[in-house]
Amino acid sequence: MSMSDAVKHKKLVFSGMQPTNTLHLGNYLGALKNWVKIQDEMPCIYCVVDMHAITAVGYGKPEELTRSIREVAAAYIAAGVDYTKHPIFNQSRVPAHAELAWIFNCVARMGWADRMTQFKDKAGKHKERVSVGLYTYPMLMAADILVYKATHVPVGEDQKQHLELARDIAQKFNTDYNAPDFFPLPEPVIVEAGTRVMSLRDGAKKMSKSDESDMSRINLTDGADTIAQKIRKAKTDPNPLPDSEKGLEGRPEAENLINIFAALSDRPRSDVIGEYAGKQFSEFKTALADLAVAKLTPIAGEMRRLLADSTEIDRILKDGAERVSAIAEPVIRETKKLVGFLG
Ligand code: AMP
Ligand code: TRP
Repeated sequence: MSMSDAVKHKKLVFSGMQPTNTLHLGNYLGALKNWVKIQDEMPCIYCVVDMHAITAVGYGKPEELTRSIREVAAAYIAAGVDYTKHPIFNQSRVPAHAELAWIFNCVARMGWADRMTQFKDKAGKHKERVSVGLYTYPMLMAADILVYKATHVPVGEDQKQHLELARDIAQKFNTDYNAPDFFPLPEPVIVEAGTRVMSLRDGAKKMSKSDESDMSRINLTDGADTIAQKIRKAKTDPNPLPDSEKGLEGRPEAENLINIFAALSDRPRSDVIGEYAGKQFSEFKTALADLAVAKLTPIAGEMRRLLADSTEIDRILKDGAERVSAIAEPVIRETKKLVGFLG
C-alpha cells in the first residue's frame, strides 16, 4: 500500500470462504487460525461467500448449499471469531457485492481474467462447459473486498493472484474515473510458510475438500477416533524422524506432519524437530494425534452445538449483514455516482 493509501484508508480486514463441503485442517491452519489472530489487531469482516459457491459445485443443490452456509459460519465462530465485534454474514444478503461486481466486470480486461490460474485449473480441458460465473469469479471477489474499502485480506497462498487482480481493478477504476485513492489497494496477509497443509495420503498434494479419499484430510467435524485413525494411517517413509530442517528435504510426508504439529502447537518447526529427532513415526504420530484431538474436538463440539438449532446462526448472519450493509451502502452509492449512473 502506498503512503497516501495508508493515511487515507482505515485498516480493515476482509476475508471469506466458500460454503462447499466440510472444512478441513488446511482451511483451519491456512486461513481460519490467522483470521482469529488478526482480529485482535484490526477490525475485521468475515463473509460466507455463497454467491461464489454457485459458480461451480454449489450449483443446483439448494438444501446442501443452505446447510453448508450455516456450517461454514459455525466453523468461523467455533474457531474463535468474535462475531460481536467482527461481523459474520453471507454474501448474497448484501446486494452491493453483486452491483459492484458488475461494474468491476467492466473495469477488468479479458486479458487480466484470462491469466487466472485458478480458473484454468478448475475449468480443466472443458472450458466451454464451466459456468460464466466461474470465469468472472475474481471480479466478484474484488467487489467483496472493495465494497468495504478493506485494506488487508488474509488468504492462503493460492489466492494471491486474485488479490493482485483486485489491486489492478482498484487502480484502474481510480484512474479511469479520476478518483485518486477512492478504492484502497488491498494487501494480502499470507500466513507464515509451513501452513500449507498437504494430503495425509500424498505429501505432494494439497489437503483439499475435493480429494476423493476422506482419509487424505482431517475434517473440522471429525470426532476424536476418526482424527486419531487418520493420523495413524497417514503415509510416511520408513526412516526415523530427522534431527534438522535439512533432513526433511525429499521427505514431503514427514515434513507435512511436522508442519501440522508445529502449527497446531504454535511452536517453531525446529523445536518440534529437536524434540522428536531420531524417534520412530509411531511415537510421533501418537503425540500428534493427541495434540490434534485436543485442539480440534472442541471446535467440532461447538460446531455441533451451533448447528443443532439453526436459530442462533441465522440470527448472527442476519445481524452481521445489517452491520456490514451500513458500510457498503455509501461506498456503492458513491461508486455509482462516479460511474455516472443516475439515481
Ligand atoms: P478453499 O477450501 O479452497 O475454498 O479455501 C479456503 C481457504 O483455505 C483459502 O484461504 C485457502 O487458501 C485455504 N486453504 C485451503 N486448503 C488449504 C491447505 N491445504 N493448506 C492451507 N490452506 C488452505
Ligand atoms: N476465492 C476465495 C477462496 O476460494 C474465497 C473468497 C471470495 C475470498 N471472496 C473473497 C477470500 C474475498 C478473501 C476475500 O478461498
